[in-house]
Amino acid sequence: TVDPSLAPTPSQSSLNLQLLELKAKGRYGSVWKAQLPDQYVAVKIFPLQDKQSWMSEIDIYNLPHMKQENILHFIGSERREDTLTTELWLVTEFHEKGSLCDYLKANTVTWAQLCHIGQTMTRGLAYLHDEIPSPIHSQAKPAIAHRDFKSKNVLLKQDLTACIADFGLALKFEPGKGFNETHPQVGTRRYMAPEVLEGAICFNRDSFLRIDMYACGLVIWELMTRCTGDGPVKEYHLPFEAEVGLQPTLEEMQTLVVTQKVRPAINPSWEKHPGLSKLISTVEECWDQDAEARLSAGCVLERLGQLSRNVNS
Ligand code: ADE
Repeated sequence: TVDPSLAPTPSQSSLNLQLLELKAKGRYGSVWKAQLPDQYVAVKIFPLQDKQSWMSEIDIYNLPHMKQENILHFIGSERREDTLTTELWLVTEFHEKGSLCDYLKANTVTWAQLCHIGQTMTRGLAYLHDEIPSPIHSQAKPAIAHRDFKSKNVLLKQDLTACIADFGLALKFEPGKGFNETHPQVGTRRYMAPEVLEGAICFNRDSFLRIDMYACGLVIWELMTRCTGDGPVKEYHLPFEAEVGLQPTLEEMQTLVVTQKVRPAINPSWEKHPGLSKLISTVEECWDQDAEARLSAGCVLERLGQLSRNVNS
């Protein structure tokens, strides 16, 4: 891996970029809508302290076969310096609708839209998780675990096609190589699988993929809570917001998810909808306490496909 911040000066300001509007601020830095001469783009600005995240994310985007419909498209990166500060920029395609989380706060979804968002999101996750072999080693795509999967990291395109973003914590698994794992308890507390909350340490490739699938179950549940299938739709809430509010501590999440084995509530009205009722078992099989019992992304994708073909309301 080369350190892009040490690239020769031509990479600096090689992008003729103008920041337009601050879209989000988080623990990682901030995201801006920006203008390139011929398109809008998103610029994620990392403070210099978060260089590792910026470098890891670029490293993941630069892997072979990472241009896929349901993965956010990377455009470029640069190190920006002025006299006082250094900023690390990561430039991607811009999607006006923003994240799935923001969308669900402001909108409900029909059954058909739920199926489309759910399928395109799980297609992205299945693609990320899958290896694409190649006789030419350097052109193979390794399996990748996201490790911070959540509705804020799923973006929606104009037609509600989902794409997965934010690879700052992602891990790649190159066959025959070990992977660098410094700190297994990472990600967003609210979306942490029980084994992560417990602080289990012996994770291999498949255990990391199963941790993503737990979070995927929570995101599909979020979609279901905003689906106008049957009965009234309540306001949007994050998973476990009803149980632990907006700023849960690690300990509160441990008690809830590990000790009490609580999962987000299944609305009784879903049982009356031909599609939602069949989706219940799928989300439950994603967030199973037993990691080995969880469905794979490919399997969830297939089930959503069957459901969308068979249920038209
Ligand atoms: N928020 C975070 N990343 C974004 C992007 N690429 N487009 C729109 N909103 C975003």
